[in-house]
Amino acid sequence: MRAIVGIDIGTSGTKTALFTEGGELIASYTGEYPMHQPYNGWAEQDPKDWWDATVKGLETVLYEARQHDSALEIAGVGLSGQMHGLVMLDADGVVLRPSIIWCDQRTEREVEYMNKIVGREKLIRVTANPAMTGFTAAKILWVRSNEPDVYARCAHILLPKDYIRYKLTGEFATEVSDAAGMQLMDIPKRNWSDEILGLLGIDRSLLAKMYESPDVTGQVHARAAAETSLPEGTIVVGGAGDNPAAAVGTGVVSAGVAFTTIGSSAVVYAVSEEVKIDLEGRVHTLCASAPGKWTVMSCTQGAGISLKWLRDTCCLPEILEAEKLDVDPYVVMDKLAAEIVPGSDRLIFLPYMMGERSPHPDPDCRGVFFGLSAMHGRPHLIRSVLEGVAFSQLECVEVFREMGVPVGDMVVTGGGSKSDLWSQMLADLYGCPVSGMKSDEGAALGAALLAAVGAGIYDTVQEACATVVKRGDTLTPDPTKKEAYAPYFELYKKLYRTMKDDFRTLSRL
Ligand code: XUL
Repeated sequence: MRAIVGIDIGTSGTKTALFTEGGELIASYTGEYPMHQPYNGWAEQDPKDWWDATVKGLETVLYEARQHDSALEIAGVGLSGQMHGLVMLDADGVVLRPSIIWCDQRTEREVEYMNKIVGREKLIRVTANPAMTGFTAAKILWVRSNEPDVYARCAHILLPKDYIRYKLTGEFATEVSDAAGMQLMDIPKRNWSDEILGLLGIDRSLLAKMYESPDVTGQVHARAAAETSLPEGTIVVGGAGDNPAAAVGTGVVSAGVAFTTIGSSAVVYAVSEEVKIDLEGRVHTLCASAPGKWTVMSCTQGAGISLKWLRDTCCLPEILEAEKLDVDPYVVMDKLAAEIVPGSDRLIFLPYMMGERSPHPDPDCRGVFFGLSAMHGRPHLIRSVLEGVAFSQLECVEVFREMGVPVGDMVVTGGGSKSDLWSQMLADLYGCPVSGMKSDEGAALGAALLAAVGAGIYDTVQEACATVVKRGDTLTPDPTKKEAYAPYFELYKKLYRTMKDDFRTLSRL
């Protein structure tokens, strides 16, 4: 049998999945690792943890698959991963410091510097986004200012999944969909921008070679083959950032369809035929993983992160109950939340646990429970976290609609989509049908399908999606629920504006 591999380097773990060339899951393994937050607003990971999880994942799925088919043939590997993370290597390919990952917010000063040196107007025209604390360019500048010795020794700058590519193939390569989130590209031209690099003083030779997502970028070398049990010479394609990879895995590869993914972050992602930019920077414009297309995308930094925080700090009884029932604690939490009315009995959660990006690019804001009363119990807290994250998605979708990007056909994916309550909330709030996927392999499937295109199994990404990607059940919006949420949503939107200055004051204490 011929199989394709998708590896998704996520924030909470790396998922390695093996599929038939028709997209049926053969085996999958997720290896978890921690995120380190040495200071408020910082977020780092050890690239070695990603590699160890990848090796374990490949060994495990290949062993399992070969038990059933000893002649298993691997047509190709596709990589996907958390976007915007900074990996720095020395000239020997050794990691110089922990990776500063997507949700890190330490770069406020660097953002001010970028606005001063490049200018907001030029940044938007060329990189399609205003300077962002979460994007990679500001992180590179932070290391240059704060750790000059590290910067001086840096010979290669990579994104998380591109580090795994380097470990597998020895190649320093990237592709447009993930590199677009570094803020160093000319987005309309789909390549590095010498103008921006020149103004920021970043040497182009530090950056990887640019490809389109389905292009072949290298082959698995002998050392990696021995470590992972992948055959030497297996092709590795560009792949995509986790969201553009999930777009392929959910069939969002042409204009008109959109998806919401709720993982550590929550993202709304729509494809456009041309470069469409929000001048206020409330949502991002990036290159799509489908060659020749672009995307409008929002990112709520603390989605699953907020629920996980609540689980770990307050929900021990639910964790114990889940152990007894042999289910995931989130299943128990979800059930409790479903018993509470929309609006959580007048409790509103602002999901800014990791600062925020969309639609409020603001590193200083932080999470809030507004309206907490002694009558509220854990079920209210759980429901208000689910609602706060869903409100944030609607606030972003309102920007998409304002920009003329249609959002009327929505797919929902990611760990959060396992909650019917959360998915139904999205349908009710968006006021449009929301469909799940038959198999929810999202980004890993998308990465594997890009490998299938690179291997010549399919001619185009669109053809691969049309053949493989199947939708699951569709939830229809309930207009009475939308009405019930409406006053809470209006207040939710007002609260950020009311507290904006106070968040800043708090961050300076
Ligand atoms: C998107 C973003 C996150 C990460 C983590 O801009 O920062 O979705 O990719 O998964």
